[in-house]
Amino acid sequence: PGLATSTPPAARPCVAAHSTTRALFSAYTGSLYQVKRGSDGATTNIAPLSAGGVANAAAQDSFCASTTCLITTIFDQTGRGNHLTQAPPGGFNGPDVNGFDNLAAADGAPVTLNGQKAYGVFISPGTGYRNDATNGIATGDAAQGMYAVLDGTHFNGGCCFDYGNAETSAHDTGNGHMEAIYFGDSVTWGTGSGSGPWIMADLENGLFSGVTTGNNPADQTITSRFVTAVVKGEPGTWAIRGGNAASGSLSTFYSGARPDVAGYNPMHKEGAIILGIGGDNSVGAQGTFYEGVMTSGYPSDATENSVQSNVIAAKYATTSLTSGPAISVGSAVSFRATTACCTTRFIAHTGTTVNTQVVNSTSTSALKLSASWTVVTGLGNSACVSFESRDTPGSYIRHFDFELLVNANDGTKQFQEDATFCPQAGLNGQGNSIRAWGYPTRYFRHFNNVCYVASNGGVDTFDATALFNDDVSWVVSSAFA
Ligand code: AHR
Ligand code: AHR
Repeated sequence: PGLATSTPPAARPCVAAHSTTRALFSAYTGSLYQVKRGSDGATTNIAPLSAGGVANAAAQDSFCASTTCLITTIFDQTGRGNHLTQAPPGGFNGPDVNGFDNLAAADGAPVTLNGQKAYGVFISPGTGYRNDATNGIATGDAAQGMYAVLDGTHFNGGCCFDYGNAETSAHDTGNGHMEAIYFGDSVTWGTGSGSGPWIMADLENGLFSGVTTGNNPADQTITSRFVTAVVKGEPGTWAIRGGNAASGSLSTFYSGARPDVAGYNPMHKEGAIILGIGGDNSVGAQGTFYEGVMTSGYPSDATENSVQSNVIAAKYATTSLTSGPAISVGSAVSFRATTACCTTRFIAHTGTTVNTQVVNSTSTSALKLSASWTVVTGLGNSACVSFESRDTPGSYIRHFDFELLVNANDGTKQFQEDATFCPQAGLNGQGNSIRAWGYPTRYFRHFNNVCYVASNGGVDTFDATALFNDDVSWVVSSAFA
């Protein structure tokens, strides 16, 4: 750390600084983020282990032990109070109560920084954070800079995994009313070379990869696990830069004139801050955010290069996405329910419906097979696993509309991600809880003997808090067949 020293707030070029992984100022000892746990609704703030240091992930783990936790606030480290909280409805509703967006699972994006565990913000579709009443964020055509550290392997084509400046009304108020970093492989507006993902600028009604709408091949596909993404703008000029957040230098993918279409010169920035969503609260995107900063004023390339050096020195690295008893690739398993009602029931399927059924040594071989699953490397992420049906090879347990189904692998990225699960230690202390890779707030749950990926206290009936820990905990043993 040490992006800036203790200059007074008015003189600081950084007007928002957000990270759940580390302090972004060398002297910062305040709260990084707040989590809320499912068991009793209590909250706690997570601070760095030391001034300027890595987040105290152990404090989160202990507070959230044997329950679920959500990230409720990502604090602004600049002292300006530009905190990010659950995004409200706008042009589009989010999926949570009253049209708010969902909150991220507190343990959805584990990493290490210099060997110390920390958690990023895993944005599933439907998840978003926002601040519509900011202090010091650029408005109108005023200059600003932004960088963010992201997961280069977690993206989609939905609108819009953004971090940066957006409308204060959460509605689309026209071209040039946003200036945010976008990351993903949306092809609705701009594209770069290759098949993506790309860093682009969300300037409202357009993701821009260069001076024109559409394709600008200088904007290169990103392939690194950790990405540093930069977008900056000043009157008449803007730029996209980026690189591998774990090594090397930043490349400039675009630097030049404002887009050659009406409405973007001058800009009409409004100064709200968004994370994980579009300016109008479009909630179709996914991605992972580790840290990001917004400045007032146009940073020099040299300043951004220093930021890149500082990010590299933080040594972002991957860590295990699983916990609890090992569920080994190549084995065949059955899952026994642990809720008192149902301890003779196992996860099985009837056609495409995944349910629980009473299975034992006297069951028919057909029923035994329907309750048996081959563990394979995660189709959507090799750090997790997928479960192939023993009676229908080529078909896997996947979620769709948060119901579990057995479907044939259609080869799409959507299917593969929906069929990828990261086993955790069982929430009730027994066996494993099987977490959806793409929705880490959600676990395999039986509810009225039908199986879902459920969140603890979410909006669906099957998200009920009663019996949640038991319903999501499974004893995993060798398969019946
Ligand atoms: O500019 C792309 C998107 O278009 C914005 O994020 C959103 O506000 C609008 O739907
Ligand atoms: O199960 C949730 C989502 O529902 C899946 O990711 C998607 O395939 C479907 O829209």
